[in-house]
Amino acid sequence: MKAVVITRFGGPEVLELQEVEDPKVGDDEVLIKIEATALNRADTIQRKGLHPPPKGASPYPGLECSGIVEAVGKNVSRWNIGDQVCALLSGGGYAEKVAVTAGQVLPILPGISLKDAAAFPEVACTVWSTVFMMNRLSAGETFLIHGGSSGIGTFAIQIAKHQGVRVFVTAGTEEKLAFCKDLGADVCINYKTEDFAARVKEETGGKGVDVILDCVGGPYFQRNLDSLSVDGRLFIIGFMGGAVTEVNLAGLLTRRLTVQCIFQSS
Ligand SMILES: NC(=O)c1ccc[n+]([C@@H]2O[C@H](COP(=O)([O-])OP(=O)(O)OC[C@H]3O[C@@H](n4cnc5c(N)ncnc54)[C@H](OP(=O)(O)O)[C@@H]3O)[C@@H](O)[C@H]2O)c1
Repeated sequence: MKAVVITRFGGPEVLELQEVEDPKVGDDEVLIKIEATALNRADTIQRKGLHPPPKGASPYPGLECSGIVEAVGKNVSRWNIGDQVCALLSGGGYAEKVAVTAGQVLPILPGISLKDAAAFPEVACTVWSTVFMMNRLSAGETFLIHGGSSGIGTFAIQIAKHQGVRVFVTAGTEEKLAFCKDLGADVCINYKTEDFAARVKEETGGKGVDVILDCVGGPYFQRNLDSLSVDGRLFIIGFMGGAVTEVNLAGLLTRRLTVQCIFQSS
């Protein structure tokens, strides 16, 4: 089969389409003939040599795909040859075929094309598992998303609005904020021209938001704590601004705040 190979670490020019061996389907796996894949920030970081794939994973980039099931392992009963599916991958989406554990395969939702479904698993699994399962974001609550125009952010806006949540976003340009507003965001904050913590306080009558999804890390940590309401929950999924900071922990006690982190490795 053909696959996109990272020939050395660097910019997009290091990617080459090469002839490689077909993947073999394991007993608990499904072999997918890939229709489409998607681009995540992690793919670009892997290409630069800063995000190695987990042990045993495909060396080719691509954390999600859609396609048609071509073969199933002997322990797999949920999927059949010919099924249209999408899947969360630990790598290997930038190829003609990929073998993936059956539990990471999802059906194509009604109304979604096979091609569009390729961009669904990574954002859906990340946002649902963090914000809704672990942080228990619920109808009537308030939710601040940093990087609102990112792949993660654009999905988080839409699913949160669907769940009846008031959504705040930060982004770095007015164009990105307008895009977030079109997707349903209620309060759009340009973090380059405004202090997001002050704006959150202003918009919530001094109370703060219930849940924050953060991908910036260190430089935002104190202001994230300051922006949370009593019983507020902060979920950190990235450190785009750095991982080190000095913080006043008092708010964690006095307002019963919860801070969680995850690295979702499929
Ligand atoms: N932990 C996990 O399991 C997991 C899973 C998936 C994704 N992630 C993380 O989630 C984040 C988003 O991923 P993605 O693929 O959706 O990214 P993406 O589409 O590439 O978007 C990244 C966004 O982050 C903003 N940004 C970049 N650097 C920033 C900085 N220093 N300060 C503030 N904002 C910054 C940019 O918007 P502006 O122009 O507005 O700054 C950009 O829109 C990444 O950090 C990624 O590693 C984590």
